[in-house]
Amino acid sequence: MGKAVFIKTRGVIVFRLQFLYLLLCMVWCSPPEDPIKCFSQSRTSNCTITNSYGAFPDRSVCRAADVVYPTSEEELVSVVGKGTMSKRKMKVATRYSHSIPKLVCPDGEEGLLISTRYLNRTLKVEPSTMTMTVESGVTLRQLIDEAAKAGLALPCSPYWWGLTVGGLLATGAHGSSLWGKGSSVHDYIVGLRIVTPAGPKDNYAKLRVIDTTQPDDLSATRVSLGVLGVISQVTLRLEPLFKRSITYSVKNDSDLGEQATEFGKQYEFADITWYPSQQKAVYRIDDRVTSNVSGNGHLDFIGFRSALSIALAIIRSSEETQESTSNADGKCIDAKLTTWALMNGAYGLTNNGIGFTGYPVVGYHNRLQASGTCLDSLEDGLTTVCPWDSRVKAQFFHQTTFSVGLSKVKSFIQDVQKLRELEPKALCGLELYNGILMRYVKASSAYLGKQEEAVDFDITYYRSNDPLRPRLYEDIIEEIEQIGLFKYGGLPHWGKNRNLAFDGAINKYGRNAEAFLKVKKRYDPLGLFSNEWTEKVLGIQNTNEVTILKEGCALEGLCVCSQDLHCAPQKGFFCRPGRLYKDARVCMYLSAMVSATF
Ligand SMILES: Cc1cc2nc3c(=O)[nH]c(=O)nc-3n(C[C@H](O)[C@H](O)[C@H](O)COP(=O)(O)OP(=O)(O)OC[C@H]3O[C@@H](n4cnc5c(N)ncnc54)[C@H](O)[C@@H]3O)c2cc1C
Ligand SMILES: *[C@@H]1O[C@H](CO)[C@@H](O)[C@H](O)[C@H]1NC(C)=O
Ligand SMILES: *[C@@H]1O[C@H](CO)[C@@H](O)[C@H](O)[C@H]1NC(C)=O
Ligand SMILES: *[C@@H]1O[C@H](CO)[C@@H](O)[C@H](O)[C@H]1NC(C)=O
Ligand SMILES: *[C@@H]1O[C@H](CO)[C@@H](O)[C@H](O)[C@H]1NC(C)=O
Repeated sequence: MGKAVFIKTRGVIVFRLQFLYLLLCMVWCSPPEDPIKCFSQSRTSNCTITNSYGAFPDRSVCRAADVVYPTSEEELVSVVGKGTMSKRKMKVATRYSHSIPKLVCPDGEEGLLISTRYLNRTLKVEPSTMTMTVESGVTLRQLIDEAAKAGLALPCSPYWWGLTVGGLLATGAHGSSLWGKGSSVHDYIVGLRIVTPAGPKDNYAKLRVIDTTQPDDLSATRVSLGVLGVISQVTLRLEPLFKRSITYSVKNDSDLGEQATEFGKQYEFADITWYPSQQKAVYRIDDRVTSNVSGNGHLDFIGFRSALSIALAIIRSSEETQESTSNADGKCIDAKLTTWALMNGAYGLTNNGIGFTGYPVVGYHNRLQASGTCLDSLEDGLTTVCPWDSRVKAQFFHQTTFSVGLSKVKSFIQDVQKLRELEPKALCGLELYNGILMRYVKASSAYLGKQEEAVDFDITYYRSNDPLRPRLYEDIIEEIEQIGLFKYGGLPHWGKNRNLAFDGAINKYGRNAEAFLKVKKRYDPLGLFSNEWTEKVLGIQNTNEVTILKEGCALEGLCVCSQDLHCAPQKGFFCRPGRLYKDARVCMYLSAMVSATF
């Protein structure tokens, strides 16, 4: 009885949120917290930095001695010069700090954070050449808006508009497309300006102006993990603003393996949201249309809207209870409700900015390509927040994101389907976070960009507040992660993932990795913009040390288990080979062993 009420409550809440949001948000939304906190009187020294989720993979807090907020390129050059002269570790910080891995931490406690918060101006929009130059702290939202005002569009972008240009370039962020230049923002860049360390002759800092005549420099700087210096400005090649027509089509997933390979070639902005335990795949049929097709469609993705803190707390508690009572059925029911609510709300699409009356949704690209209204808000004492705001009891999850080469996508999907057949309820948990998002990416000439045409799989799932607590069907999701990354050689998204995803990742880039490292040596020979994490990821410090071996490490993805201790043997989770992929090592629940051993 109690449970039934709980489950109903959740569905109703998800549903009501959509309406309440509109009413409440004008007065009652809290913008995200500043990821940088400083404890000195001036608020610029003795600082900590975290990410927008309030937790790095290892849950540590990073420290920095100071933060500076340059407001112009000249100031930036002077800041880098001073930092270099005193051989300080430096790192660029952005307004929201969205990346999950520890890219943003300067090593030690004496480091300097250089924030791009006030480097947020649009410098030039040139309709004649269809180029636009912005400072690197400009958010995706600003970029889209400013371009549209001049009748221009960035054809592809991530779906969340809170990212900054500098941050999304550093991590190779993308949307979904196999057409034209593809879906990665860095592939639309025709020039940039980057400030790097230098010797005394140059006053310890050098402004490098890079364009297409320096292909080596451009290939390195377009996806840099932030280790080459501070990108000051970026020039992008855009297109005339156009209209799109979007239809979501729900299908049985039995032929998803075959479909996934072809679908991306059929529609320019195709993507697929896969709900494996419901055996459904939602195909986004999404193409350009001529601008005389009527429609003023708009996207405000439901998952990126402000949510009531109270509702988030109830939903989180419900999932915690399901975890602690191993209530897989409860998760499966909630998954269906969540998916139903999302589909019914057309994921946040409307035909005219007000209501949804049916597909197709036709509208201008700039109103459909990204969203994130939970960022707009006044201070309201945390009544409503972004759904992952760590100041309240809210979503807390792991994100595993890797791209699998197009030729292997079918086999990967079929492996996941086989695991689902073995454990039909195991993947309901993913569907509470909107399933597996599958997006198309093209090979890039950026050294650390995608190496081939691929499908990027984005998987989000429960993370316990207690790092030593295993999840429901821990082993199945771990196995999928290892199948994608190791059996099929998937490339991890640089701005997401758990540590193990980066184990050996740099070797998948072959000579492009070497080329990148050469530029790094030239730009920042002392590694002032590098930290322990980036050095390990780039294979400069001993490879394979991105993982951290300790008790329970596999539960948080800090390692692949090699001993039972890396799981939670006292709770019945032991390190075992995968069910399908025998080279995988996963934390498996073995109830018989619990009673035998303890
Ligand atoms: C809700 C949400 C939705 C997302 N959606 C997508 C998506 O649709 N597609 C996708 O691919 N990714 C997506 N991401 C992941 C995102 O792409 C990365 O996390 C992105 O890099 C974060 O950008 P940021 O501006 O927050 O940068 P940060 O995370 O703050 O910085 C990332 C790195 O870039 C460096 N850096 C930042 N600015 C500069 C600069 N000017 N010069 C040099 N280095 C710099 C930083 O030092 C750091 O090393 C999403 C993340 C969230 C939280
Ligand atoms: C720095 O801030 C911390 C609080 O996080 C405080 O405990 C510490 O004393 C401060 N250190 C200095 C040198 O001010
Ligand atoms: C740049 O950021 C500052 C601080 O966040 C803000 O006050 C200002 O309005 C922003 N400028 C633009 C052009 O958005
Ligand atoms: C999908 O198709 C398969 C095989 O045709 C069938 O067994 C399954 O029940 C279908 N699933 C749904 C949700 O309709
Ligand atoms: C839209 O314009 C195209 C030419 O650009 C024309 O062929 C088509 O008939 C027009 N459609 C409508 C609905 O007016």
